Amino acid sequence: MLKIIASETVKENGQRAAEVVTELLRSKPTAVLGLATGSSPIEMYTELARMCDKGEISFKNVKSVNLDEYVGLSPEHDQSYAYFMRNNLFDKVDIDLKNTNLPNGLAEDPVAECKRYDAVVESMGGIDLQVLGIGLNGHIGFNEPADEFTEGTGLVELTQSTIDANSRFFADKSLVPTKAFSMGVGQIMSADKILLIATGTAKAQILEKALFGEVTPRVPASVLQTAKDVVVCADRAALSVILEKHPECVKF
Ligand code: F6R
Repeated sequence: MLKIIASETVKENGQRAAEVVTELLRSKPTAVLGLATGSSPIEMYTELARMCDKGEISFKNVKSVNLDEYVGLSPEHDQSYAYFMRNNLFDKVDIDLKNTNLPNGLAEDPVAECKRYDAVVESMGGIDLQVLGIGLNGHIGFNEPADEFTEGTGLVELTQSTIDANSRFFADKSLVPTKAFSMGVGQIMSADKILLIATGTAKAQILEKALFGEVTPRVPASVLQTAKDVVVCADRAALSVILEKHPECVKF
């Protein structure tokens, strides 16, 4: 089941996405959240932090697993995903940091780290809601276009397109990590519900291709067409191609 919720602005889109999370937290305060970083979920995290501050929701009994982390960055590095999560959500809500999980970017043995993270995801007993952004090349997590859909956590070589896209956050392109740990597509798809967030015209083509094109590991996000429950929260700009080709599928 695919539901596309459209918003006029990025801020409104974040509020709509936050509604999907709060609905879950209210019905299941012990929910397991799969979380993403990047620009796409920032407004949603801001809204969740605001609601938590007002006492409208609580993360006290929530557990989280993040999708990915750059290899080589410590949790203190301001471009690490661990830092991003603290800065955008964890330090602003009542979540117990002990219940939050990310791959360890400094792990010395990558194979052991992938195994450890698989065990962490497994120990959650199922992800209730997985939050995703979508890469310009259709990646989800850091599962880049490939010949096959991945299953478990892997060490990923980032493609040039992803390195270029991520370089906007680094002082110099040479500082952008070229590898990352990422949960696999199989782990993402095992979630009960998936929330995909996309904003901006740059995402318009790939979003249409992923949601309405061929299901292929060359466009990793296309696998979402086979998921049981997917909500897409996107702004008008990201939906521009879908609004042209499949307007009947979009709900404002
Ligand atoms: C981040 C992640 C990535 C991003 C994607 C979109 O944890 O897994 O797949 O969601 O690269 O990034 P933004 O939102 O910055 O456009």
